[in-house]
Amino acid sequence: MHVSMAPAGTTPSRTEPADDVVNHFYYPPDDFEADRGEGVYLYGKDGRRYLDASSGTFNLTLGYSHPEVVETIREQAGELIHVTSKFQSKPVNALVAALSQVAPAGLTRVHLKSSSGSDANEAAIKIAQHHTGNPDVISLFRGHLGQTMAMINASGAAFRRAPFPAQLPGVVHVPDPYCVRCFYRQQRETCGLLCVERVNDFIDYASSGRVAAVILEPISGNGGNVVPPDGYLQALRELCDERGILLVFDEIQTGFGRTGHMFASDTFGVSPDILTFGKGLGGSGMPIAGLLTAEHLTGLEGHHINSTFGANVLASSVAVKTLEIIRRPGFLENVRAVGAHIMDRLGELAARHAFIGDVRGRGLMIGMEVNDADGHPDPGFTNHLAARGMDHGLLLRTSLYGFGNVLKVRPPLIMTMEEADELCDRLDRLFADAL
Ligand SMILES: Cc1ncc(COP(=O)(O)O)c(C=O)c1O
Repeated sequence: MHVSMAPAGTTPSRTEPADDVVNHFYYPPDDFEADRGEGVYLYGKDGRRYLDASSGTFNLTLGYSHPEVVETIREQAGELIHVTSKFQSKPVNALVAALSQVAPAGLTRVHLKSSSGSDANEAAIKIAQHHTGNPDVISLFRGHLGQTMAMINASGAAFRRAPFPAQLPGVVHVPDPYCVRCFYRQQRETCGLLCVERVNDFIDYASSGRVAAVILEPISGNGGNVVPPDGYLQALRELCDERGILLVFDEIQTGFGRTGHMFASDTFGVSPDILTFGKGLGGSGMPIAGLLTAEHLTGLEGHHINSTFGANVLASSVAVKTLEIIRRPGFLENVRAVGAHIMDRLGELAARHAFIGDVRGRGLMIGMEVNDADGHPDPGFTNHLAARGMDHGLLLRTSLYGFGNVLKVRPPLIMTMEEADELCDRLDRLFADAL
């Protein structure tokens, strides 16, 4: 390892940047260095402009450094950045009020004292366990619920669990509604939602018989942008009601307009008992997360689910501004219109580029499969396309959790039709050049 040398007789400064700084990262970052961002574009130190088709980490609802977010931060930072979350503050109160106005039916309580989406999901499971007295959790194959020790096991991919010898017990993973690659080899028209019916078997034969919650993303994001078939979430809701199990929606990716409605719960017309959120509420990247719960689920003491960075005053002020912008007339209509336009154009691309398979999504939560000549998932080529995207001025991400063959198209929700066309034109050129 390189050690920076100080002149003889002086002490090396602790703040002096090492010229090989990447060797000091716990694991090496990408070679790309970001400089600044504006709207849907990120500018690199390389002097180039990239259209970000992944909204950062699917969290830049309002794009990079939205001017109203920047202004809000400036104003709020001068007033109050943080206060212990046991006290009230204007931004946090305003956020709780705004969230309770937009919450899906029946979700009347807001908990903001989470430090991340993973943390919010853990709080949801704690609430479910506390309320039901039951230990087990049902989650879906390919689901991504976070990276804490408990959430890597609640998530539905073995590769996340593999390095760790100890995990959260009591999680039962069940097949997800991935209709184009159905686990049960069914056709949607005739399946009768077998994947929901079979959850009963998993409860009866694979769990302890005492299940606290079913937790899932309404659209499985990292799992391959898997959109559930009509009636799936309704059927799961009924199953949970019949069996006395709480239904938890992880809306950390789908929340705050991503699917063309405030929440995916609204898109699909199903309310969970608990809804977790994070990512997009931060507008241009402020860290904020939490959960909404039904009235009767209160009762857990704060010290069981609070975090120092939770209910952060500065982040809450930005979240209030973000919600205000999302609720403006035309905002969600634009998400639906631009999303539908991109879906149409991707459908045309799929007709011209044989390796593009199923294109699916809602609003601006879109994914497209990349397959080999036999129609099998082609993760190698998918990764190649995502990497080559940079040459075409595009930032693209792929599905890690699924078969690794889904290119995700989840741009900032402020995207215009012109920018959507630019995105699709760039994809077209990428696909034409990539073979
Ligand atoms: C659906 C979903 N749930 C949970 C998480 C975890 O959120 P965080 O990274 O804020 O802990 C993520 C993050 O990627 C996510 O996409």
